[in-house]
Order: sequence, then C-alpha cells, then structure tokens
Amino acid sequence: MRLFVGLALPSDIRLRLQALCSGIAGARWVKPENMHITLRFVGDVNGEDVEDLNDALADISCPPFNLSLAGVDCFGGSKGVRSVWAGVEKPQELDPLQASVESTISRLGYGPEERKFTPHITLARFKKTRADKIAPFFESNLGFVSSPFSVENFTLFRSHLGHEGAHYEVLADYELAPR
Ligand code: 2AM
Repeated sequence: MRLFVGLALPSDIRLRLQALCSGIAGARWVKPENMHITLRFVGDVNGEDVEDLNDALADISCPPFNLSLAGVDCFGGSKGVRSVWAGVEKPQELDPLQASVESTISRLGYGPEERKFTPHITLARFKKTRADKIAPFFESNLGFVSSPFSVENFTLFRSHLGHEGAHYEVLADYELAPR
C-alpha cells in the first residue's frame, strides 16, 4: 500500500485554504478533506511491514509546536507549472519532527527521499500549465496568512489513487509530547 507520513490540518484552516481555491482554468483543486502537509513520502509498503513502520513511528519523541501558514507558491517552472500550494510561515518549526520521521523511515530501509523537504499544502494540480495562467491567482493570494494552530500529533496516511484523484485514509495518529 502507498503510504506517507504527514500532518492533518484543523478544519478551520482547511476551510481557509479552500477559500483560496479558485481562479485558475483547468486546475484540479484538492478537496479540503484531502489537504495535509507531507513530512515524508514512504511509497509502497507490504502489508506485513506496516506494523514495523507503525511501531517505529510510535517511538518518535518530539514536542508539540505551533504552525502558521503563509504565502502561495508552485512546483514546476519554465517547463510548466505542475501544482500550486500554500506554504508554512516558519518552515524551520517543522525541522525537528521532520528529521525524526526522516531518520526513522530511512533506518527501516525506505528511500532515499529525493525531493528537498519543502513543507507545503497542495491546493491544485495541473497536467502542466503556463506560468502566466496562474499569475492572477498569485496576485490575489501572495499575502495569504492563516491564524496559528497547534500541532499535537502526526499521522500515517494511506493514499488511494483513483480516477477522481487521490484520497487519503488515516492509518494511525502519533501524539507529540514534551520530552
Ligand atoms: P504533493 O502534494 O506535492 O504531490 C501523497 O502523495 C503526498 O506525498 C502528497 O502530499 C505528495 O506531495 C507527497 N509526495 C512526496 N513525494 C512524493 C512522491 N515521490 N510521489 C508521490 N507523492 C509524493
């Protein structure tokens, strides 16, 4: 099964993000229930290995922290934009948890992660679109900031791919606790 580790978002934050989701022709907008921050994409995991992964993630010890979202950006550039996303105001807030998740998953032999860690919430995907088509979206939303919210757990998600796009199932939540 196709798994990744990430952060679920509070419903008020997802509604705030949903309000950004308009104004680009041909965009496949992400439904609010599917909005999340990925900490580490794991990929295909055999059913019998999920328990080991779950046990290792449950052993992570990391304190809770606060996060705010800010700004919008995109992946892909001159060769065509593939997705637009909302960013995290202080990405370094995520570093301790992301580093623990990364080392836990690498230790189990998954990886290596090829993408540089750029915390983001994907808002829309495209086959590939020209940068000028998303310019009005950027002009409207560059100043986007969310209210702060507390991150008290992280999540093991299963991604189900389908004709209507992916949807994500929560397999387990792991509490963050002061050391
Ligand atoms: P994305 O939203 O930028 O596509 C489930 O696919 C989650 O894992 C998404 O948040 C996706 O990021 C992220 N992800 C990271 N690396 C991935 C990869 N190699 N393949 C698919 N998804 C990946």
